Amino acid sequence: MPADVARAGAEQFRDAAVEAIQQKGVFHVALSGGSTPRIVHARLSAASMRSRIAWDRVRFFFGDERCVPPESDRSNYRMAKETLLDPMGIPPGHVFRMRGEEEPRRAAEEYRDILAREFAGEAMPRFDLVFLGMGPDGHTASLFPGTRALRASRSPVAANWVPKFSEWRLTLTYPALNSARRIVFLVTGAEKRPAAERILKRRKGWRDLPAAGVRPSAGSLLWLLDEEAGGGL
Ligand code: 6PG
Repeated sequence: MPADVARAGAEQFRDAAVEAIQQKGVFHVALSGGSTPRIVHARLSAASMRSRIAWDRVRFFFGDERCVPPESDRSNYRMAKETLLDPMGIPPGHVFRMRGEEEPRRAAEEYRDILAREFAGEAMPRFDLVFLGMGPDGHTASLFPGTRALRASRSPVAANWVPKFSEWRLTLTYPALNSARRIVFLVTGAEKRPAAERILKRRKGWRDLPAAGVRPSAGSLLWLLDEEAGGGL
């Protein structure tokens, strides 16, 4: 059930937040785009969860963004703002959005600078938690099959041309994702099952799917799938 993914995802957020805030007084989280995170955000905004997290110690980042203005209904930032940031009264200064309205390469450089500032002294940003989704083609964040950003080996952020949609995207790269302390995939829906099965069962060609490249070097990886996407896997 998607509700199970929502509950488990919210619990992962809470656990990661409590741990990070206890250890270092701040919790750095990268939110996922798409629609699945909505159910997790709703769960986090529920009264039962509000009191269990020191929300003023949370700093919000994004795993990727479409190159659209923040008020666009395609904006991942707008989705997060409407479903989590506004309901929780998160101060704008605690939210670091990718500026989809900018020229893509400049927006990527700007976000790289933001990450360098917010993770000062670290060669690569080390998020306490990264939420990720996955598309039926195995893409994650805006790392789509056959696209250039898959090969980024040094920069934590890339502007990525996606031929499938004939559009630019902004995305964290594998070096940034795989530096995370905790990565949680949120995957629901039968259309995701073939890609999920291929990756989780290491079936033929599994390495070709971008989501398979998410392997934290010193962190945990958890796949949360509903029955349709992963029952029995
Ligand atoms: C985006 C996301 C993307 C998303 C998957 C799954 O910008 O669209 O970052 O990687 O997570 O496409 O999307 P759904 O949750 O809507 O199925």
